[in-house]
Order: sequence, then structure tokens, then C-alpha cells
Amino acid sequence: MMNKITFDLISIFPDYFAPLKLSLIGKAEENGLVEIKIHDLRDQAHGVHKSVDDTPYGGGAGMVMSPEPWGAAIDQVLASSDATTHELIVLTPAGEKLTQVVAAELATKEHLIFACGRYEGIDHRVTEHYRTVPGVRVRELSIGDYVLGGGEVATLVTMEAVIRLIPGVLGNPDSLVEESHSLPENVVEYPNYTKPASWRGLEVPEVLLSGNHALIKKWRTEQAQTRTRKLGEQTGE
Ligand code: ADE
Repeated sequence: MMNKITFDLISIFPDYFAPLKLSLIGKAEENGLVEIKIHDLRDQAHGVHKSVDDTPYGGGAGMVMSPEPWGAAIDQVLASSDATTHELIVLTPAGEKLTQVVAAELATKEHLIFACGRYEGIDHRVTEHYRTVPGVRVRELSIGDYVLGGGEVATLVTMEAVIRLIPGVLGNPDSLVEESHSLPENVVEYPNYTKPASWRGLEVPEVLLSGNHALIKKWRTEQAQTRTRKLGEQTGE
């Protein structure tokens, strides 16, 4: 059976998701491999000002997103889904780090809900509540140690990493097989070259022109290892 994943994205800025119509993800949706539904959180805000945030209890700078519109939006998404299990992904710099391993795991799920917070984040009770709902798994995810203005761009990053791993999305699945050999500890690839063989005085490494596949494989492995080691020296990991 085809592994079709439904993505429900909830945000106060639905226009952020326009790029999902492009390229690989746009094609994946056209081909029925994914279904992407975008929801405006503001539709669930019912005051005169359609406000979705308020000042933090205990004081402090900034605003916190109110639990009611989030509860209403997520309940509606869950009610309209025929999936049996749901991943509720909440983007936050305080979350678990998005890695290739996490992306690969998400690519096996049937329903992913992305909650894109803004300001100082979403009232903590929202994740607390959905952790108790049967069939829902809450996952707080961070795309890196920096603070974005909101979860929308982090959602785009996560979706791109996940969707290319869905069977049938990439034209040439061999590239996935090559990647998976180096998981989980190493996602760094060897350097790639194409024609011309000589460009601005720089030559393509001789071994790649040799036609000796065993030798090429060995060279590429060494190159990937060297790059990984250098990266580790830079980042102290
Ligand atoms: N929201 C704000 N910063 C973020 C980050 N680094 N990752 C995920 N969501 C975020």
C-alpha cells in the first residue's frame, strides 16, 4: 500500500507555507504521496480582536499564546482525521534536536500535525493536555540552537527533511540508500563533481575518472570521514 502522509499545519501566518507548492514537495503532493492542509489559528480566536496571545502569568517580557485557540484548532484537526495515530509536533528551540534519524522516523507516520508558535511560545498546558490524549504523541522539536521568530520556518525545514524520505518522492532512490549507509552518526557526504573535468584550473580528482568502482568507493568513504572529522573539530563534537 502507498504510504501517504497527511500534514496539518497550524499557524497565524498561513502564507508562510506558499513554498510547499514548489519543487519536490509540490510534486509529492500532486502525485498523491502527501496531503498538506494549512489552518489559520486566528479562525479559532473569538474575541473582538481575535487575539491569540496574552501576557505571561508571573510577569516577564513578551506574550504567550493562549491555550483555547490551540486546543480548538488541534481538536478540529484530530476530529477530521481518519488516521489512528497522530504526531503532534510543536516547534520550539527548547525541543529535541531535529536529526536525520528523527526525520526518518517521522517519514513512517500517517499523520503529522505541526503547531507553529510565535512570541514566547504556547501555554505549557497545551502539550501537557495532548500528552494525555490516546493516539496522540507529542513531540517538541528544535531545528537548531538559535531562536527564530516562530515555528513556521522550522516546520518547512522539518517537512523538507521528512518528505524526501517518503518512498516514491525522489526520482532516484539510490541517493537515499547511499545516505542511509552513513546513518546515524554521519550525514556528511563526499565532495561531488560533474563536467567539465577541468574548470578554472581546478581538476576533478583523477580517481573519479578511473572507472575503478572499488577505488572510487574507498576514496569517497575516506573523503566523507575526513569531512566529518573536520566538522567535529570545528563544532567540538
Ligand atoms: N521556534 C523558534 N526558534 C525555533 C527553533 N530553533 N527550532 C524550532 N522552532 C523554533
